[in-house]
Amino acid sequence: MSGTINRQILLVEKPTGKLAPAHFKLRDGAIPEPRDGEVLLRVRYISLDAANRAWMHGATYRSAVEANSVMAGGGIAEVVSSKAAGLAPGDVVFGDTGWQDYAAVPARHLTRLPKVEPMTHLLSVFGIAGLTAYFGLLEIGKPKAGETVVVSAAAGSVGSIVGQIAKIKGCRVVGIAGGKDKCDWLTSDLGFDAAVDYKDGAVFKALRAAAPKGVDVYFDNVGGDILEACLPQMNNYGRIACCGAISQYDGAPSAHGPRGVPGLIVVKRLVMQGFIVMDFMDQRDKAIADLQGWVGSGKLKVQEDVIDGLENTPAALIGLLAGENRGKRMIRV
Ligand SMILES: NC(=O)c1ccc[n+]([C@@H]2O[C@H](COP(=O)([O-])OP(=O)(O)OC[C@H]3O[C@@H](n4cnc5c(N)ncnc54)[C@H](OP(=O)(O)O)[C@@H]3O)[C@@H](O)[C@H]2O)c1
Repeated sequence: MSGTINRQILLVEKPTGKLAPAHFKLRDGAIPEPRDGEVLLRVRYISLDAANRAWMHGATYRSAVEANSVMAGGGIAEVVSSKAAGLAPGDVVFGDTGWQDYAAVPARHLTRLPKVEPMTHLLSVFGIAGLTAYFGLLEIGKPKAGETVVVSAAAGSVGSIVGQIAKIKGCRVVGIAGGKDKCDWLTSDLGFDAAVDYKDGAVFKALRAAAPKGVDVYFDNVGGDILEACLPQMNNYGRIACCGAISQYDGAPSAHGPRGVPGLIVVKRLVMQGFIVMDFMDQRDKAIADLQGWVGSGKLKVQEDVIDGLENTPAALIGLLAGENRGKRMIRV
């Protein structure tokens, strides 16, 4: 990181098809001057999230990312200087820093974080990924011991934690992921009971073999055809936690929605509920305490995929969308 310039990655054009390096540009900007109520941040780690791509489509739970602006993204940063009460130089915070070395951000948009070693855990298991897995599974999926839980994008940052928490809760856990290596890793290293390689085709049949008693909770990270394959295999009164739809983010959406909606939801009395992790932040302390306990006791393994260099951020996001990552992908700035 340079001490005098502020390297920034701009989204120069909104993609209409697949995201490509040409949609981004690296430029040398100025280090901003914080205004009243703001702090100057030095960004340490940038979170790579499937949602970064979804934000390019338009406004979601946040405003859209616009062309010719610094690419938005969450990050862990240190306060360099402060014009805001309650934050001082050296404090560590999480916020939308964007893809750059330095950012001036209103203090009210930042979350002050405890000093944790390694700092990367603040973006993975103790960050949005871990909290999304925790709340989505426990508050929406509501798994009971002995039930079967299926999770898609199972080797990713959210999915790998969902499956492990479901095991801690005494469930049979099936992960759906792309490729034999990822599937072997889920069963041999993370303790999943079975894994389905969706790139091998025949997801419906493979899932039936992996979940012979049917599915009680489906944690859906992907939507599309995998959701369609899960729906008929849900047990009566099953719960589907709609976390995201990564199969729809990078490129044109599929021509049809999953078949079985709403027929199978009616007949099987399913609950299908979307959620945004921020909805549960009033319960954050309890969640973090549970996650810390499981990590400390070795019941929850933390998988991180740290890539060096701000300049590599576009390629790292494109790679995440293509399934390069295992666990939480981030950039060390
Ligand atoms: N609701 C919330 O509050 C909230 C918060 C955070 C994240 N999310 C959602 O959580 C999900 C996971 O996001 P993440 O950022 O943690 O990413 P991630 O799981 O770490 O990485 C994304 C993974 O998705 C898989 N994937 C890509 N295209 C796919 C496709 N067409 N079909 C099936 N799998 C595909 C890839 O693995 P494979 O090799 O297995 O294909 C890739 O590694 C996303 O849907 C995201 O929007 C929601």
